[in-house]
Amino acid sequence: MNKKKKILKIAIDSPAAAGAGTLAKAISEHYNLFYLDTGKIYRFIAYLKIKFPKKFNNKFVKSKIKTLKIKDLINNDLLSDKIGTEASIISKIKTLRKIVHNFQINFAYNPPKKYNGSCLDGRDITYNIIPDADFKFYITANVKTRALRRYKELKSLKKNISYKEVLKSIKNRDKSDYNRKIAPLKKTKDSLLINTTNLSKRACFLKIKKIIDRKINI
Ligand code: C5P
Repeated sequence: MNKKKKILKIAIDSPAAAGAGTLAKAISEHYNLFYLDTGKIYRFIAYLKIKFPKKFNNKFVKSKIKTLKIKDLINNDLLSDKIGTEASIISKIKTLRKIVHNFQINFAYNPPKKYNGSCLDGRDITYNIIPDADFKFYITANVKTRALRRYKELKSLKKNISYKEVLKSIKNRDKSDYNRKIAPLKKTKDSLLINTTNLSKRACFLKIKKIIDRKINI
């Protein structure tokens, strides 16, 4: 009998720069999960739009996503504030979301055999992409803390931007992500809230680990 192995699925949603990516990475490493920062895909599409403005259409994006490898998303150019802002604009386009949707579903439900499951973070993961996730988290922090974290990250990447500009851009992105009609950012009732404002990375990780271990009896 070919019985399919039960996989562990973790869904995380969060506003920009709340620390979800760092946490999701640590959790994925600890539980050996296939990890995807879904924001990177929208950033990748935004990058395509800026780099190939004349070629940019649904067909072009579809072909790029079809051959997309996780290593293509490891690119510091995708981290700039300009790309983040453009990503929040293109992420409102229904047809583009559909292309990304299929990629994410496949990633979440068919991780390579060597992994125990998958972990995805983004804006609509808990209710659109993995509605049946074993664990759902909504990770947040106050907007000034998030802006400061993102500012420090951008500075470490030698990006030329002020704290004030980062704060403004994060506020704009929040407004757009929370209020858009398609797949807005929200905390679902069945997601556990983790506020990282006054917590260290380690403390956040341990908090989440405790919740997961309690349920999976490690
Ligand atoms: O997470 P990150 O800041 O890299 O995401 C960039 C933008 O991509 C977000 O502001 C949001 O508009 C969009 N996004 C989305 N759905 C996701 C992940 C990101 O619409 N699942």
